[in-house]
Amino acid sequence: MGISISSAKGNPDDRISGCRLFVEKAIEDLCNERPERIPERLWESMTYSLTAGGKRVRPVLCILAGETCGASREDLIPMALACEMVHTASLIHDDLPAMDNDSMRRGKPTNHVVFGEPLALLAGDSLFLWAFEYARKRLLAGNAFPHLSILEALGVLLDASGPAGICGGQVLDTDPASTGPESEHPWTVARSKTAVLISASVQAGAILGGAGPREREAFAGFGDHLGTAFQIIDDIIDVTGEAARIGKTPGKDRIQGKITFVSVFGLEEARRMSRKETSMAIDFLSIIERDVADLERFPRILEERDN
Ligand code: IPE
Ligand code: IPE
Ligand code: MG
Ligand code: MG
Ligand code: MG
Repeated sequence: MGISISSAKGNPDDRISGCRLFVEKAIEDLCNERPERIPERLWESMTYSLTAGGKRVRPVLCILAGETCGASREDLIPMALACEMVHTASLIHDDLPAMDNDSMRRGKPTNHVVFGEPLALLAGDSLFLWAFEYARKRLLAGNAFPHLSILEALGVLLDASGPAGICGGQVLDTDPASTGPESEHPWTVARSKTAVLISASVQAGAILGGAGPREREAFAGFGDHLGTAFQIIDDIIDVTGEAARIGKTPGKDRIQGKITFVSVFGLEEARRMSRKETSMAIDFLSIIERDVADLERFPRILEERDN
């Protein structure tokens, strides 16, 4: 079962699906209006990857966390879109020949296959950076959140994007000289290349929503474990998934000689680890004295995914 985007009445995933559709529409609107100073071809390349599909897990998490704390999705959307832009940027770079050298992403040819390497590299840089300027401007204009909250939320996302986050994680994943002990390596890589952004997306929403210090820690713990489970499942799907369903090249980790949860621990143990990380994530929600029903349901949906 993949993640359903249907918002049919009676569908138990209704609020999550509705949130995803809201994000999808906002991405479409954003991509339809090129800011004047951005060159046309660069914009084409940036929006090609943004609109190519994708599960929109990070923006949905940002909104769910923010709504849990009392903010509205209309006010949260600039932050949610920034999370998706950072993620999409990281995927464009991840697929480059110098990195994972992949030719398919979100069911379409990868950015560099369509636009060439120089443009893909710069579209990635642009999305990484524009995410922050876009969110800063829109959040200030929205006038819904204290400036300090906006600064802190953007700071969490910034930290997750940089050397202590995705950049560092991608180094551990691609640089043979940075490989640690085999049984620890998949954990370290998963936390830094993937969990960090998933956790930042949750935290950014919660911070804007006005979560207190203890709640923030709980949201961070939830995101860290959910993000680790997410990467474990990504490693599993690389082995078990079909190209038509996953929209990327199956078996790529083995071809690239990656150290993954599956290569180190085997499929069955990896599945057990993902279930444990998912449960640990959900446990953190008990600290939050708000209605966390949808946040609690989402990790289970993600655990069942096949794409
Ligand atoms: C893929 O992320 C890369 C990882 C960090 C595992 P997603 O599985 O969320 O990719 P999209 O956004 O749905 O394409
Ligand atoms: C990518 O991890 C993580 C980031 C983009 C930061 P993977 O290399 O496993 O992602 P896929 O499998 O290509 O989506
Ligand atoms: Mg990679
Ligand atoms: Mg990859
Ligand atoms: Mg992968």
